Amino acid sequence: MKLSVRSQGPLSGTVRPPGDKSISHRAAILSAVAEGVSRIEGFLECDDCLSTAEALQDLGVNVEPIGVNTLEVRGAGFGAFREPKSTIDMGNSGTGMRLLMGLVAGIPMEVTFTGDESLSRRPMDRIAEPLEMMGASVEGRGERVTPPVTVSGGDLKGITYHPPMASAQVKSAVLLAGLSAEGETRVVEPAASRDHTERMLKAMGADIEVDDLEITLHPGSKLRAGSLGVPADISSGAFLLAAGLLVDDSEVFVREVLLNPTRTGFLEALEQMEAKLEVSARKEVSGEPVGTIRAVTSDLRAGEFGGELIPRMIDEIPLLAVLATQAEGTTLIRDAGELRVKETDRLRAMARLLSAMGADVTEHDDGLKITGPTKLRGAVVDAERDHRVAMSAVIAGFIATGETVIEGAECIDTSFPGFVQKLQELGAEHIKEEE
Ligand code: S3P
Repeated sequence: MKLSVRSQGPLSGTVRPPGDKSISHRAAILSAVAEGVSRIEGFLECDDCLSTAEALQDLGVNVEPIGVNTLEVRGAGFGAFREPKSTIDMGNSGTGMRLLMGLVAGIPMEVTFTGDESLSRRPMDRIAEPLEMMGASVEGRGERVTPPVTVSGGDLKGITYHPPMASAQVKSAVLLAGLSAEGETRVVEPAASRDHTERMLKAMGADIEVDDLEITLHPGSKLRAGSLGVPADISSGAFLLAAGLLVDDSEVFVREVLLNPTRTGFLEALEQMEAKLEVSARKEVSGEPVGTIRAVTSDLRAGEFGGELIPRMIDEIPLLAVLATQAEGTTLIRDAGELRVKETDRLRAMARLLSAMGADVTEHDDGLKITGPTKLRGAVVDAERDHRVAMSAVIAGFIATGETVIEGAECIDTSFPGFVQKLQELGAEHIKEEE
């Protein structure tokens, strides 16, 4: 599917993005481990989270949609999982594959996970290493252990693990394995990554302690089933906010969006760039802070971003690059080498895309340098099977001259089904789907 986008008139209104992807994955997985029936409201029915839900079914868990964005999971503890009859296909979902590798590592069975072309290129050595230290065996292709990967689980022992990168996927895989390990499992992060696994484990009754960057899971916890509401995804909301900031005379409200401090790096970066953003209606949903964010058209200034901020805005960096093309001065994004191993090499993809649209952008090993403001011009661009690249291209197309055609835009459903409709709700008229 192609999207054709042209420059937009003013955007206005209030929208709620769909449920948070990271929280939806975790809610399904942890409910499967809990004993009893859990109800997950606001579950994100995107391709990635549906892959996780189907994988749990393949592993013998009763997971059923019981209404719009509502999932019922009948968990029965680790004992209820059974060896799947065939390979489990995780589609495009790196989070799903990595978290489930951790989950099955403690169960005496053999599970093989595959994925699409993009996922088949992504490194699983970062998961294999700690799981093997704990006593599981993980086989994949080549040195970086790319999928298909086979996990042979069994008796695990707790470890103290220092991941070389700040990755919530790695941390979560180790903690999930730790649930069925003997002894304590400790993860010491180099910088804070999203902490939804820790929060949810605690809320479900696990014996877990968090001391700054050190997380300790004590053995023997049984998780409690229950009801959980999934807040709206800030990483999806970010595109709607960016549209509000960039399109002339706009005022956009994004409501009930996740404001967990491990996910708000993008908002902090935008504040540094003098974006006009305001947060109101703060409250808590299922142990996570949420609020409404207002964005109005802003004159942006360039900024320099690196260090601990990067993992807290990792998925928003492609979009930040689009915003930087409109900011006065030179924006530097560094310490972001992890973007090279996402759904595509996002540093290369954004440098290529924005250059094609006339931006002044240079790619570095671990980041991007962008000088603005530049008037972007429409171009035909390829989404490279990466949902966040595709949505970033749409926002760039909103402020470009002429027509921007995004090829391969169906990948947007990976994380944000209904993206085009949400933009239309805000008044975007010049966006249409083409075969
Ligand atoms: C995710 C963690 C991040 C992020 C991904 C979702 C998660 O990946 O990029 O979209 O839900 O744990 P890393 O932890 O590998 O950086």
